[in-house]
Amino acid sequence: MAVWFLSSLGLAFVWLYDLIHSAEYTICSPESNIYTVEDVLPRAKCITISGSLITAVGDTPPARPGVWSLLEPYLPAPKVITLPAGSALVPGLADAHAHIIENGFKMQLQLEHAKSVDEVLELLKAYVRAHPDIESDHTRWIEGLGWDQTKWPGAQFPSAADFEQDPVLVGRPIALRRVDVHAMWVSQRVLELTGPLPESVEGGIIIRDADNKPTGVFVDNAMDLIPLPKRSDEVVKEYFETTMREALKYGLTSVHDADSNPSDIEFYKRQAEDGNLPIRLYLMGNVQSEEYWGSKIQRLVNYGKDGRLNVRSVKLFTDGALGSWGAALLEPYSDKPDTTGIMRSSAKVLASLISQFQKDGWQTNVHCIGDKANHVVLDIYDDIITGRNESEAVNVEAWRPRIEHAQIMTPEDLARMARLGVIASVQPTHATSDMWYAETRLGSSRIKGAYAYQTLLQASPHNVLPLGSDFPVEGVNPLVGFYAAVSRLSVDGTSPHGQTGWYSNERLSRAQALKGMTLDAAYASFMEHEIGSLRIGKKADFVVLDKDIMSIEFGEILSTKVLATVVDGRLAYGALP
Ligand SMILES: *[C@@H]1O[C@H](CO)[C@@H](O)[C@H](O)[C@H]1NC(C)=O
Ligand SMILES: [Zn+2]
Repeated sequence: MAVWFLSSLGLAFVWLYDLIHSAEYTICSPESNIYTVEDVLPRAKCITISGSLITAVGDTPPARPGVWSLLEPYLPAPKVITLPAGSALVPGLADAHAHIIENGFKMQLQLEHAKSVDEVLELLKAYVRAHPDIESDHTRWIEGLGWDQTKWPGAQFPSAADFEQDPVLVGRPIALRRVDVHAMWVSQRVLELTGPLPESVEGGIIIRDADNKPTGVFVDNAMDLIPLPKRSDEVVKEYFETTMREALKYGLTSVHDADSNPSDIEFYKRQAEDGNLPIRLYLMGNVQSEEYWGSKIQRLVNYGKDGRLNVRSVKLFTDGALGSWGAALLEPYSDKPDTTGIMRSSAKVLASLISQFQKDGWQTNVHCIGDKANHVVLDIYDDIITGRNESEAVNVEAWRPRIEHAQIMTPEDLARMARLGVIASVQPTHATSDMWYAETRLGSSRIKGAYAYQTLLQASPHNVLPLGSDFPVEGVNPLVGFYAAVSRLSVDGTSPHGQTGWYSNERLSRAQALKGMTLDAAYASFMEHEIGSLRIGKKADFVVLDKDIMSIEFGEILSTKVLATVVDGRLAYGALP
Protein backbone atom coordinates (compact mmCIF):
# COMPACT_ATOMS: atom_id res chain seq x y z
CA MET A 1 0.00 0.00 0.00
CA ALA A 2 2.70 2.43 1.09
CA VAL A 3 4.78 1.47 -1.94
CA TRP A 4 1.84 2.03 -4.25
CA PHE A 5 1.14 5.39 -2.60
CA LEU A 6 4.74 6.54 -2.80
CA SER A 7 5.16 5.55 -6.42
CA SER A 8 1.93 7.29 -7.37
CA LEU A 9 3.11 10.37 -5.56
CA GLY A 10 6.44 10.11 -7.39
CA LEU A 11 4.68 9.84 -10.76
CA ALA A 12 2.53 12.82 -9.87
CA PHE A 13 5.66 14.83 -9.11
CA VAL A 14 7.31 13.83 -12.38
CA TRP A 15 4.14 14.82 -14.22
CA LEU A 16 4.04 18.12 -12.34
CA TYR A 17 7.69 18.78 -13.11
CA ASP A 18 7.07 18.13 -16.76
CA LEU A 19 4.10 20.45 -16.73
CA ILE A 20 6.12 23.27 -15.24
CA HIS A 21 9.30 22.70 -17.19
CA SER A 22 8.17 21.34 -20.56
CA ALA A 23 8.66 24.75 -22.16
CA GLU A 24 12.19 24.91 -20.75
CA TYR A 25 15.35 24.52 -22.78
CA THR A 26 19.01 25.29 -22.44
CA ILE A 27 21.37 26.39 -25.19
CA CYS A 28 25.09 25.83 -24.66
CA SER A 29 28.12 27.09 -26.51
CA PRO A 30 31.22 25.12 -25.48
CA GLU A 31 33.33 28.06 -26.73
CA SER A 32 31.51 30.54 -24.48
CA ASN A 33 30.21 32.32 -27.57
CA ILE A 34 27.08 33.48 -25.80
CA TYR A 35 27.54 37.25 -25.61
CA THR A 36 25.33 38.58 -22.84
CA VAL A 37 25.97 42.37 -23.09
CA GLU A 38 26.16 42.34 -19.28
CA ASP A 39 29.20 43.57 -17.33
CA VAL A 40 29.02 40.60 -15.00
CA LEU A 41 29.68 37.50 -17.11
CA PRO A 42 29.92 39.11 -20.56
CA ARG A 43 30.40 35.65 -22.11
CA ALA A 44 28.61 32.52 -20.98
CA LYS A 45 28.52 28.86 -21.91
CA CYS A 46 24.82 28.22 -21.32
CA ILE A 47 21.52 30.06 -21.24
CA THR A 48 18.21 28.57 -20.09
CA ILE A 49 14.83 29.72 -21.31
CA SER A 50 11.58 28.91 -19.61
CA GLY A 51 8.46 30.07 -21.39
CA SER A 52 9.15 33.60 -22.57
CA LEU A 53 11.88 34.40 -20.04
CA ILE A 54 15.55 33.79 -19.43
CA THR A 55 15.82 31.75 -16.24
CA ALA A 56 19.54 30.96 -16.06
CA VAL A 57 22.81 32.19 -17.56
CA GLY A 58 26.03 30.48 -16.57
CA ASP A 59 28.83 28.12 -17.39
CA THR A 60 26.82 24.91 -16.99
CA PRO A 61 23.19 24.00 -17.55
CA PRO A 62 21.33 24.77 -14.31
CA ALA A 63 20.89 22.01 -11.71
CA ARG A 64 17.36 20.83 -10.92
CA PRO A 65 15.91 23.42 -8.61
CA GLY A 66 15.54 22.56 -4.89
CA VAL A 67 13.53 19.47 -4.02
CA TRP A 68 13.38 18.34 -7.64
CA SER A 69 17.00 17.26 -7.42
CA LEU A 70 15.82 14.42 -5.12
CA LEU A 71 13.84 12.99 -8.03
CA GLU A 72 16.72 13.33 -10.52
CA PRO A 73 16.77 9.65 -11.65
CA TYR A 74 13.08 9.73 -12.52
CA LEU A 75 12.83 13.08 -14.28
CA PRO A 76 12.98 13.51 -18.06
CA ALA A 77 16.40 14.64 -19.29
CA PRO A 78 16.63 18.45 -19.61
CA LYS A 79 16.48 19.71 -23.17
CA VAL A 80 19.97 20.96 -24.08
CA ILE A 81 20.87 22.34 -27.49
CA THR A 82 24.57 22.61 -28.30
CA LEU A 83 25.61 25.33 -30.74
CA PRO A 84 27.89 24.34 -33.61
CA ALA A 85 31.55 25.36 -33.39
CA GLY A 86 32.20 28.91 -34.58
CA SER A 87 28.63 30.10 -34.12
CA ALA A 88 27.52 32.71 -31.61
CA LEU A 89 24.44 33.76 -29.69
CA VAL A 90 23.67 37.43 -29.02
CA PRO A 91 20.67 39.31 -27.60
CA GLY A 92 17.91 40.04 -30.10
CA LEU A 93 19.08 42.90 -32.32
CA ALA A 94 17.31 46.24 -32.40
CA ASP A 95 17.11 48.94 -35.03
CA ALA A 96 16.67 52.21 -33.17
CA HIS A 97 15.64 54.22 -36.22
CA ALA A 98 13.86 52.80 -39.25
CA HIS A 99 10.76 53.18 -41.41
CA ILE A 100 8.80 49.94 -41.55
CA ILE A 101 6.07 50.66 -44.11
CA GLU A 102 8.37 52.72 -46.35
CA ASN A 103 10.78 49.80 -46.45
CA GLY A 104 8.09 47.46 -47.77
CA PHE A 105 7.24 50.15 -50.29
CA LYS A 106 10.85 50.41 -51.41
CA MET A 107 11.15 46.68 -51.96
CA GLN A 108 8.51 46.62 -54.69
CA LEU A 109 10.64 48.79 -57.03
CA GLN A 110 14.29 49.17 -56.13
CA LEU A 111 16.29 52.00 -57.66
CA GLU A 112 19.34 52.30 -55.46
CA HIS A 113 21.72 50.40 -57.71
CA ALA A 114 21.07 52.62 -60.73
CA LYS A 115 24.25 54.40 -61.81
CA SER A 116 22.61 56.86 -64.21
CA VAL A 117 19.26 58.35 -65.15
CA ASP A 118 19.09 55.85 -68.04
CA GLU A 119 19.46 52.95 -65.62
CA VAL A 120 16.55 54.30 -63.56
CA LEU A 121 14.45 54.50 -66.74
CA GLU A 122 15.36 50.89 -67.60
CA LEU A 123 14.26 49.74 -64.13
CA LEU A 124 10.98 51.61 -64.49
CA LYS A 125 10.30 50.06 -67.88
CA ALA A 126 11.03 46.57 -66.56
CA TYR A 127 8.64 47.29 -63.69
CA VAL A 128 5.88 48.47 -66.04
CA ARG A 129 6.28 45.40 -68.25
CA ALA A 130 6.14 43.11 -65.22
CA HIS A 131 2.83 44.68 -64.13
CA PRO A 132 0.32 44.34 -67.01
CA ASP A 133 -2.34 46.19 -64.99
CA ILE A 134 -0.07 49.24 -64.87
CA GLU A 135 1.19 48.80 -68.42
CA SER A 136 -2.33 48.99 -69.85
CA ASP A 137 -3.49 51.85 -67.61
CA HIS A 138 -1.64 55.12 -68.21
CA THR A 139 -3.33 56.81 -65.24
CA ARG A 140 -1.85 54.45 -62.64
CA TRP A 141 0.87 56.04 -60.50
CA ILE A 142 4.34 54.55 -60.57
CA GLU A 143 6.11 55.16 -57.29
CA GLY A 144 9.57 54.14 -56.19
CA LEU A 145 12.38 54.98 -53.82
CA GLY A 146 16.14 54.91 -53.85
CA TRP A 147 17.65 57.11 -56.59
CA ASP A 148 20.86 58.86 -55.67
CA GLN A 149 22.31 61.43 -58.05
CA THR A 150 25.64 61.41 -56.18
CA LYS A 151 26.27 58.00 -57.83
CA TRP A 152 25.60 59.26 -61.35
CA PRO A 153 27.90 60.96 -63.89
CA GLY A 154 27.77 64.70 -63.19
CA ALA A 155 25.94 64.17 -59.86
CA GLN A 156 23.17 66.57 -60.95
CA PHE A 157 19.51 66.33 -59.96
CA PRO A 158 17.37 64.65 -62.67
CA SER A 159 14.26 66.30 -64.17
CA ALA A 160 10.71 65.58 -65.35
CA ALA A 161 11.91 65.81 -68.94
CA ASP A 162 13.95 62.63 -68.47
CA PHE A 163 10.80 60.50 -68.40
CA GLU A 164 9.35 62.12 -71.50
CA GLN A 165 12.13 60.75 -73.74
CA ASP A 166 10.78 57.27 -73.29
CA PRO A 167 7.75 55.91 -75.22
CA VAL A 168 6.81 53.50 -72.40
CA LEU A 169 6.95 56.15 -69.67
CA VAL A 170 5.79 59.32 -71.42
CA GLY A 171 2.57 60.81 -70.03
CA ARG A 172 2.45 58.56 -66.95
CA PRO A 173 2.28 59.86 -63.35
CA ILE A 174 5.65 58.92 -61.85
CA ALA A 175 6.97 59.95 -58.41
CA LEU A 176 10.33 58.66 -57.22
CA ARG A 177 11.71 59.44 -53.78
CA ARG A 178 15.41 60.07 -53.37
CA VAL A 179 17.35 57.47 -51.34
CA ASP A 180 17.19 59.70 -48.22
CA VAL A 181 13.44 60.31 -48.74
CA HIS A 182 14.17 64.06 -48.60
CA ALA A 183 13.53 64.77 -52.29
CA MET A 184 11.03 63.63 -54.91
CA TRP A 185 11.53 63.42 -58.68
CA VAL A 186 8.27 63.52 -60.61
CA SER A 187 7.09 63.30 -64.22
CA GLN A 188 5.42 65.95 -66.39
CA ARG A 189 2.02 64.32 -65.74
CA VAL A 190 2.49 64.73 -61.97
CA LEU A 191 3.40 68.40 -62.45
CA GLU A 192 0.12 68.82 -64.36
CA LEU A 193 -1.86 67.01 -61.64
CA THR A 194 -0.19 69.13 -58.95
CA GLY A 195 -1.49 72.31 -60.58
CA PRO A 196 -0.24 75.85 -60.00
CA LEU A 197 2.73 75.98 -57.66
CA PRO A 198 3.54 78.61 -55.05
CA GLU A 199 6.64 80.71 -55.71
CA SER A 200 8.37 79.19 -52.69
CA VAL A 201 7.71 76.75 -49.83
CA GLU A 202 8.64 77.26 -46.19
CA GLY A 203 11.17 74.55 -45.26
CA GLY A 204 11.39 73.16 -48.77
CA ILE A 205 12.60 73.86 -52.30
CA ILE A 206 10.93 73.58 -55.68
CA ILE A 207 13.91 73.14 -57.99
CA ARG A 208 13.59 75.47 -61.00
CA ASP A 209 15.49 75.94 -64.26
CA ALA A 210 17.02 79.14 -65.69
CA ASP A 211 13.54 80.24 -66.88
CA ASN A 212 12.15 79.73 -63.36
CA LYS A 213 10.13 76.69 -64.51
CA PRO A 214 9.89 73.77 -62.05
CA THR A 215 12.17 70.95 -63.22
CA GLY A 216 10.29 68.17 -61.44
CA VAL A 217 12.37 67.84 -58.25
CA PHE A 218 10.83 68.80 -54.90
CA VAL A 219 12.94 68.92 -51.75
CA ASP A 220 11.76 68.43 -48.14
CA ASN A 221 8.50 70.32 -47.33
CA ALA A 222 7.90 70.99 -51.04
CA MET A 223 7.22 67.25 -51.45
CA ASP A 224 3.94 67.77 -49.58
CA LEU A 225 2.58 69.57 -52.67
CA ILE A 226 2.54 66.32 -54.70
CA PRO A 227 -0.96 64.73 -54.70
CA LEU A 228 0.19 61.16 -54.11
CA PRO A 229 -2.60 58.56 -54.15
CA LYS A 230 -3.56 57.17 -50.73
CA ARG A 231 -2.37 53.65 -49.97
CA SER A 232 -5.05 51.03 -49.38
CA ASP A 233 -5.07 48.96 -46.17
CA GLU A 234 -4.11 45.84 -48.12
CA VAL A 235 -1.09 47.56 -49.59
CA VAL A 236 0.00 48.85 -46.16
CA LYS A 237 -0.33 45.33 -44.74
CA GLU A 238 1.68 43.90 -47.61
CA TYR A 239 4.49 46.43 -47.05
CA PHE A 240 4.42 45.75 -43.30
CA GLU A 241 4.66 42.00 -43.76
CA THR A 242 7.47 42.33 -46.28
CA THR A 243 9.52 44.29 -43.75
CA MET A 244 8.71 41.94 -40.87
CA ARG A 245 9.95 38.95 -42.90
CA GLU A 246 13.18 40.83 -43.64
CA ALA A 247 13.59 41.87 -40.01
CA LEU A 248 13.31 38.31 -38.69
CA LYS A 249 15.62 36.98 -41.35
CA TYR A 250 18.30 39.41 -40.20
CA GLY A 251 17.87 38.88 -36.47
CA LEU A 252 15.94 42.02 -35.58
CA THR A 253 13.62 41.47 -32.62
CA SER A 254 12.79 45.12 -32.10
CA VAL A 255 12.44 48.13 -34.37
CA HIS A 256 11.89 51.79 -33.50
CA ASP A 257 9.68 53.20 -36.25
CA ALA A 258 10.87 56.76 -36.80
CA ASP A 259 7.71 58.27 -38.29
CA SER A 260 4.30 56.71 -37.58
CA ASN A 261 1.30 58.83 -38.52
CA PRO A 262 -2.05 58.31 -36.73
CA SER A 263 -3.37 55.91 -39.37
CA ASP A 264 -0.14 53.88 -39.21
CA ILE A 265 -0.52 53.73 -35.42
CA GLU A 266 -4.10 52.49 -35.83
CA PHE A 267 -2.81 49.85 -38.24
CA TYR A 268 -0.09 48.65 -35.84
CA LYS A 269 -2.60 48.66 -33.00
CA ARG A 270 -4.89 46.30 -34.92
CA GLN A 271 -1.96 44.03 -35.73
CA ALA A 272 -0.96 43.99 -32.05
CA GLU A 273 -4.50 43.12 -30.97
CA ASP A 274 -4.58 40.25 -33.47
CA GLY A 275 -1.20 38.93 -32.33
CA ASN A 276 0.36 39.81 -35.69
CA LEU A 277 3.51 41.53 -34.44
CA PRO A 278 6.34 39.03 -34.87
CA ILE A 279 8.77 41.45 -33.18
CA ARG A 280 8.59 44.41 -30.76
CA LEU A 281 7.73 47.78 -32.24
CA TYR A 282 8.51 51.12 -30.63
CA LEU A 283 6.70 53.84 -32.55
CA MET A 284 7.55 57.52 -32.81
CA GLY A 285 4.24 59.21 -33.54
CA ASN A 286 4.19 61.96 -36.12
CA VAL A 287 1.65 64.46 -37.42
CA GLN A 288 2.78 67.11 -39.91
CA SER A 289 1.52 70.15 -38.05
CA GLU A 290 2.87 73.17 -36.24
CA GLU A 291 -0.08 73.08 -33.85
CA TYR A 292 0.37 70.81 -30.83
CA TRP A 293 -0.84 67.34 -31.86
CA GLY A 294 -0.25 65.30 -28.67
CA SER A 295 -3.98 64.53 -28.43
CA LYS A 296 -4.06 63.01 -31.94
CA ILE A 297 -2.00 59.98 -30.98
CA GLN A 298 -2.67 57.34 -28.38
CA ARG A 299 -0.11 56.31 -25.80
CA LEU A 300 0.35 52.53 -25.66
CA VAL A 301 2.62 50.61 -23.29
CA ASN A 302 3.39 46.91 -23.83
CA TYR A 303 0.15 46.76 -25.78
CA GLY A 304 -1.53 43.90 -27.62
CA LYS A 305 -1.78 40.16 -27.44
CA ASP A 306 1.94 39.67 -26.91
CA GLY A 307 2.58 43.08 -25.33
CA ARG A 308 4.93 44.00 -28.17
CA LEU A 309 3.68 47.46 -29.14
CA ASN A 310 4.82 50.69 -27.49
CA VAL A 311 3.86 54.24 -28.39
CA ARG A 312 5.32 56.77 -26.00
CA SER A 313 7.54 58.93 -28.18
CA VAL A 314 7.09 61.47 -30.96
CA LYS A 315 9.18 62.37 -33.96
CA LEU A 316 9.84 65.96 -34.95
CA PHE A 317 11.77 67.24 -37.96
CA THR A 318 14.24 70.08 -37.92
CA ASP A 319 16.09 69.99 -41.24
CA GLY A 320 16.62 67.97 -44.42
CA ALA A 321 19.51 65.72 -45.42
CA LEU A 322 23.09 66.20 -46.58
CA GLY A 323 22.76 64.45 -49.95
CA SER A 324 20.17 66.96 -51.16
CA TRP A 325 21.93 69.98 -49.51
CA GLY A 326 18.97 70.10 -47.12
CA ALA A 327 20.90 69.70 -43.85
CA ALA A 328 20.77 73.05 -42.02
CA LEU A 329 24.29 74.38 -41.47
CA LEU A 330 25.58 77.29 -39.40
CA GLU A 331 27.89 78.30 -42.28
CA PRO A 332 27.31 77.83 -46.05
CA TYR A 333 27.99 74.52 -47.77
CA SER A 334 31.59 74.19 -48.93
CA ASP A 335 30.43 72.97 -52.37
CA LYS A 336 27.41 75.32 -52.66
CA PRO A 337 28.40 78.60 -51.01
CA ASP A 338 25.02 80.21 -51.75
CA THR A 339 23.12 77.92 -49.39
CA THR A 340 23.10 76.88 -45.74
CA GLY A 341 20.42 74.20 -46.16
CA ILE A 342 16.81 74.02 -45.00
CA MET A 343 15.13 74.44 -41.62
CA ARG A 344 11.83 72.57 -42.04
CA SER A 345 10.48 74.00 -38.78
CA SER A 346 11.36 77.25 -37.08
CA ALA A 347 13.13 77.27 -33.72
CA LYS A 348 10.06 78.93 -32.22
CA VAL A 349 7.65 76.23 -33.38
CA LEU A 350 10.03 73.48 -32.26
CA ALA A 351 10.48 75.06 -28.83
CA SER A 352 6.77 75.22 -28.21
CA LEU A 353 6.10 71.68 -29.49
CA ILE A 354 8.98 70.08 -27.60
CA SER A 355 8.04 71.85 -24.34
CA GLN A 356 4.43 70.74 -24.59
CA PHE A 357 5.31 67.13 -25.46
CA GLN A 358 7.71 67.03 -22.52
CA LYS A 359 5.02 68.31 -20.15
CA ASP A 360 2.59 65.67 -21.42
CA GLY A 361 5.09 62.88 -20.83
CA TRP A 362 6.17 62.14 -24.40
CA GLN A 363 9.76 61.32 -25.25
CA THR A 364 10.80 63.66 -28.09
CA ASN A 365 12.98 62.26 -30.89
CA VAL A 366 14.07 65.08 -33.14
CA HIS A 367 15.59 64.69 -36.59
CA CYS A 368 18.76 66.82 -36.76
CA ILE A 369 21.40 66.40 -39.45
CA GLY A 370 23.20 69.74 -39.85
CA ASP A 371 25.15 71.55 -37.13
CA LYS A 372 22.54 74.32 -37.11
CA ALA A 373 19.67 71.88 -36.61
CA ASN A 374 21.54 70.20 -33.77
CA HIS A 375 22.40 73.59 -32.27
CA VAL A 376 18.83 74.85 -32.34
CA VAL A 377 17.42 71.70 -30.77
CA LEU A 378 20.14 71.59 -28.11
CA ASP A 379 19.25 75.20 -27.21
CA ILE A 380 15.66 74.05 -26.67
CA TYR A 381 16.67 70.93 -24.72
CA ASP A 382 19.05 73.09 -22.69
CA ASP A 383 16.23 75.52 -21.75
CA ILE A 384 13.90 72.71 -20.76
CA ILE A 385 16.37 70.49 -18.92
CA THR A 386 17.89 73.31 -16.88
CA GLY A 387 14.44 74.81 -16.26
CA ARG A 388 15.65 78.18 -17.49
CA ASN A 389 12.17 79.38 -18.53
CA GLU A 390 10.10 77.44 -16.04
CA SER A 391 12.28 77.69 -12.95
CA GLU A 392 12.02 73.94 -12.54
CA ALA A 393 14.60 71.52 -13.93
CA VAL A 394 13.44 68.40 -15.76
CA ASN A 395 14.59 64.87 -14.93
CA VAL A 396 16.45 63.81 -18.07
CA GLU A 397 16.55 60.18 -16.99
CA ALA A 398 12.74 60.12 -16.93
CA TRP A 399 12.28 62.07 -20.17
CA ARG A 400 15.15 60.59 -22.26
CA PRO A 401 15.07 63.17 -25.06
CA ARG A 402 16.73 61.95 -28.25
CA ILE A 403 18.32 63.52 -31.28
CA GLU A 404 17.93 61.34 -34.33
CA HIS A 405 21.10 61.27 -36.51
CA ALA A 406 23.14 63.88 -34.56
CA GLN A 407 25.13 63.84 -37.76
CA ILE A 408 27.10 67.09 -37.97
CA MET A 409 27.91 68.88 -34.71
CA THR A 410 30.19 71.66 -33.54
CA PRO A 411 32.69 70.66 -30.83
CA GLU A 412 30.80 72.88 -28.36
CA ASP A 413 27.53 71.09 -29.09
CA LEU A 414 29.14 67.66 -28.77
CA ALA A 415 30.16 68.72 -25.27
CA ARG A 416 26.75 70.20 -24.52
CA MET A 417 25.00 67.03 -25.66
CA ALA A 418 27.03 65.23 -23.02
CA ARG A 419 26.43 67.79 -20.30
CA LEU A 420 22.68 67.65 -20.84
CA GLY A 421 22.48 63.88 -21.19
CA VAL A 422 20.59 63.99 -24.50
CA ILE A 423 20.59 60.62 -26.30
CA ALA A 424 22.21 60.53 -29.74
CA SER A 425 20.54 57.95 -31.98
CA VAL A 426 22.92 57.32 -34.89
CA GLN A 427 23.18 55.21 -38.06
CA PRO A 428 26.68 53.88 -38.79
CA THR A 429 25.89 53.07 -42.43
CA HIS A 430 25.15 56.76 -43.02
CA ALA A 431 28.83 57.43 -42.30
CA THR A 432 30.00 54.84 -44.81
CA SER A 433 27.41 55.84 -47.45
CA ASP A 434 28.14 59.56 -47.13
CA MET A 435 31.92 59.36 -46.63
CA TRP A 436 32.63 59.71 -50.35
CA TYR A 437 31.05 63.17 -50.60
CA ALA A 438 30.52 64.46 -47.02
CA GLU A 439 33.86 66.25 -46.82
CA THR A 440 33.20 68.00 -50.16
CA ARG A 441 29.93 69.32 -48.73
CA LEU A 442 31.38 70.28 -45.32
CA GLY A 443 35.08 71.03 -45.69
CA SER A 444 37.98 69.70 -43.65
CA SER A 445 37.17 71.41 -40.36
CA ARG A 446 33.42 70.72 -39.92
CA ILE A 447 33.90 67.09 -40.94
CA LYS A 448 35.68 66.45 -37.61
CA GLY A 449 32.40 66.80 -35.73
CA ALA A 450 30.46 64.68 -38.24
CA TYR A 451 29.49 61.03 -37.75
CA ALA A 452 31.58 61.26 -34.56
CA TYR A 453 30.27 58.07 -32.96
CA GLN A 454 33.12 57.30 -30.58
CA THR A 455 33.16 60.91 -29.41
CA LEU A 456 29.39 60.83 -28.85
CA LEU A 457 29.59 57.57 -26.93
CA GLN A 458 32.49 58.75 -24.75
CA ALA A 459 30.53 61.89 -23.99
CA SER A 460 27.27 60.15 -23.07
CA PRO A 461 26.75 60.32 -19.30
CA HIS A 462 24.70 57.10 -19.44
CA ASN A 463 27.20 55.53 -21.82
CA VAL A 464 24.53 54.91 -24.44
CA LEU A 465 24.62 55.24 -28.22
CA PRO A 466 21.63 53.48 -29.78
CA LEU A 467 22.34 52.36 -33.33
CA GLY A 468 19.97 52.09 -36.27
CA SER A 469 19.95 51.83 -40.04
CA ASP A 470 17.25 54.30 -41.11
CA PHE A 471 16.04 51.58 -43.48
CA PRO A 472 14.90 51.92 -46.27
CA VAL A 473 17.51 54.68 -46.62
CA GLU A 474 19.99 51.86 -45.96
CA GLY A 475 19.45 48.10 -45.97
CA VAL A 476 17.67 46.17 -43.21
CA ASN A 477 20.56 43.85 -42.25
CA PRO A 478 21.84 45.16 -38.87
CA LEU A 479 25.16 43.36 -39.34
CA VAL A 480 25.99 45.79 -42.14
CA GLY A 481 25.56 48.56 -39.56
CA PHE A 482 27.70 46.61 -37.09
CA TYR A 483 30.40 46.25 -39.76
CA ALA A 484 30.22 49.96 -40.65
CA ALA A 485 30.45 50.97 -36.98
CA VAL A 486 33.50 48.85 -36.22
CA SER A 487 35.35 49.28 -39.52
CA ARG A 488 34.22 52.62 -41.04
CA LEU A 489 34.68 50.88 -44.41
CA SER A 490 32.27 50.43 -47.29
CA VAL A 491 31.14 46.88 -47.98
CA ASP A 492 33.92 46.42 -50.55
CA GLY A 493 36.52 47.15 -47.86
CA THR A 494 37.48 50.64 -49.05
CA SER A 495 37.20 54.17 -47.66
CA PRO A 496 38.50 57.63 -48.57
CA HIS A 497 41.20 56.96 -45.93
CA GLY A 498 42.11 53.48 -47.16
CA GLN A 499 41.71 50.22 -45.33
CA THR A 500 42.01 51.62 -41.82
CA GLY A 501 38.60 53.19 -42.32
CA TRP A 502 37.24 56.72 -42.65
CA TYR A 503 38.24 58.77 -39.60
CA SER A 504 39.07 55.52 -37.87
CA ASN A 505 39.35 57.27 -34.48
CA GLU A 506 35.54 57.33 -34.54
CA ARG A 507 35.21 53.55 -34.94
CA LEU A 508 33.33 51.69 -32.21
CA SER A 509 34.68 48.55 -30.61
CA ARG A 510 32.66 45.40 -31.30
CA ALA A 511 31.40 45.33 -27.71
CA GLN A 512 30.29 48.96 -28.00
CA ALA A 513 28.58 48.33 -31.33
CA LEU A 514 26.77 45.22 -30.06
CA LYS A 515 25.61 47.13 -27.01
CA GLY A 516 24.42 49.98 -29.26
CA MET A 517 22.28 47.49 -31.20
CA THR A 518 20.84 45.85 -28.10
CA LEU A 519 20.96 47.35 -24.62
CA ASP A 520 21.40 50.99 -25.68
CA ALA A 521 18.47 50.75 -28.08
CA ALA A 522 16.47 49.21 -25.23
CA TYR A 523 17.44 52.12 -22.96
CA ALA A 524 16.42 54.62 -25.63
CA SER A 525 12.95 52.99 -25.60
CA PHE A 526 12.59 52.62 -21.80
CA MET A 527 12.96 48.84 -22.11
CA GLU A 528 16.39 48.23 -20.57
CA HIS A 529 14.90 46.26 -17.67
CA GLU A 530 13.02 43.91 -20.00
CA ILE A 531 15.17 43.36 -23.11
CA GLY A 532 18.57 44.21 -24.59
CA SER A 533 20.81 41.78 -22.71
CA LEU A 534 20.85 38.17 -21.62
CA ARG A 535 20.10 38.27 -17.95
CA ILE A 536 17.85 36.28 -15.63
CA GLY A 537 14.31 37.63 -15.68
CA LYS A 538 14.59 39.41 -19.03
CA LYS A 539 12.57 38.38 -22.05
CA ALA A 540 14.14 35.61 -24.09
CA ASP A 541 14.82 37.55 -27.30
CA PHE A 542 18.02 36.33 -28.94
CA VAL A 543 19.72 35.47 -32.21
CA VAL A 544 21.99 32.61 -33.20
CA LEU A 545 24.57 33.58 -35.84
CA ASP A 546 26.56 31.12 -37.94
CA LYS A 547 29.78 33.03 -37.21
CA ASP A 548 31.24 34.76 -34.19
CA ILE A 549 30.95 38.42 -35.17
CA MET A 550 32.95 39.40 -32.09
CA SER A 551 36.15 37.77 -33.36
CA ILE A 552 36.05 37.11 -37.14
CA GLU A 553 37.69 39.42 -39.67
CA PHE A 554 35.73 42.51 -40.69
CA GLY A 555 34.90 41.20 -44.16
CA GLU A 556 33.39 38.00 -42.78
CA ILE A 557 30.85 39.96 -40.74
CA LEU A 558 29.05 40.76 -43.99
CA SER A 559 28.56 37.11 -44.93
CA THR A 560 27.40 36.09 -41.45
CA LYS A 561 23.96 34.50 -41.51
CA VAL A 562 21.23 34.28 -38.91
CA LEU A 563 20.52 30.64 -38.00
CA ALA A 564 17.67 31.43 -35.64
CA THR A 565 15.73 34.41 -34.36
CA VAL A 566 13.89 33.85 -31.09
CA VAL A 567 11.30 36.24 -29.65
CA ASP A 568 9.75 35.67 -26.21
CA GLY A 569 11.47 32.29 -26.07
CA ARG A 570 9.79 31.10 -29.27
CA LEU A 571 11.48 30.43 -32.58
CA ALA A 572 10.38 33.12 -35.04
CA TYR A 573 12.83 32.44 -37.88
CA GLY A 574 15.23 29.66 -38.87
CA ALA A 575 15.95 26.64 -36.71
CA LEU A 576 17.76 25.91 -33.48
CA PRO A 577 20.50 23.37 -34.22
C1 LIG B 1 12.79 80.16 -23.29
O1 LIG B 1 12.59 81.56 -23.36
C2 LIG B 1 13.28 82.23 -24.42
C3 LIG B 1 13.10 83.71 -24.24
O2 LIG B 1 11.73 84.03 -24.16
C4 LIG B 1 12.74 81.70 -25.75
O3 LIG B 1 13.40 82.31 -26.83
C5 LIG B 1 12.93 80.20 -25.81
O4 LIG B 1 12.37 79.68 -26.99
C6 LIG B 1 12.29 79.51 -24.60
N1 LIG B 1 12.61 78.11 -24.62
C7 LIG B 1 11.69 77.16 -24.66
C8 LIG B 1 12.15 75.75 -24.66
O5 LIG B 1 10.50 77.39 -24.71
ZN1 LIG C 1 14.61 58.33 -40.73
